[in-house]
Amino acid sequence: MQATSLKTVLEVSHLAKTVDTVDGPLTILHDINFSVSESESLAIVGASGSGKSTLLGLLAGLDTPSSGNVLLMGQDISGANEDKRAEIRAHHVGFVFQSFQLIDHLTAQENVQLPLELTGMPRAEAAAKSKVWLEKVGLGQRLKHRPKTLSGGEQQRVALARAFVTEPDMLFADEPTGSLDEQTGARIIDLLFQLNQELGSTLILVTHDMALATRCQRQMVLNAGRIVSGA
Ligand SMILES: Nc1ncnc2c1ncn2[C@@H]1O[C@H](COP(=O)(O)OP(=O)(O)OP(=O)(O)O)[C@@H](O)[C@H]1O
Ligand SMILES: [Mg+2]
Repeated sequence: MQATSLKTVLEVSHLAKTVDTVDGPLTILHDINFSVSESESLAIVGASGSGKSTLLGLLAGLDTPSSGNVLLMGQDISGANEDKRAEIRAHHVGFVFQSFQLIDHLTAQENVQLPLELTGMPRAEAAAKSKVWLEKVGLGQRLKHRPKTLSGGEQQRVALARAFVTEPDMLFADEPTGSLDEQTGARIIDLLFQLNQELGSTLILVTHDMALATRCQRQMVLNAGRIVSGA
């Protein structure tokens, strides 16, 4: 191994996910194997229903696999209990959901400062930092708005600020530009790669946007729950 080789931050072995449905068991992911190095950028692409969001949730420890495992920053996140997974996520992971998943009764700023408070940061400091990140995504004038009073694209930008605010080692984003116009999308993409390059955050994103996918160092293609290239 070369002295300059980068640390492996994500190692996926024989990962599979089967769910129960009214028609019987349905296997969504089959024997997924790959690894990702520190500060790498990886795009996961594939048709709707190919298993991209399911895979992303397993990689980030939001869901548990039926078999196989995920080592995230050297820790077996797939085998850990919910409390341990939450702790690993709080310290290492930023996640942008396809459906945003903002908390309705909190303002934009409170949504963004929540992950900082979960790491134990004092509220005043967390509030100041969340304001800076909302300004970076162009929402400095919407701090006190609740999610229902924001447009879809604005909600997506709050979700991005929430994922960025802890400056995580690993940033997972599911269709991060799906609801954004071209110009705003381009600004958000620049922010994603800025975190990736300046902070050395590893970036793993799911996208249908080929311009975004090709800006990543590596593209992995999923088809019907299997990796067909880029592993
Ligand atoms: N809990 C569940 N129960 C039953 N089927 C599920 C469940 N979760 C996902 N699926 C099915 O698994 C497949 C993969 O879903 P997933 O959301 O991972 O796809 P995707 O690649 O992210 O698609 P899209 O591009 O539309 O977001 C889909 O066919 C979906 O219907
Ligand atoms: Mg999806």
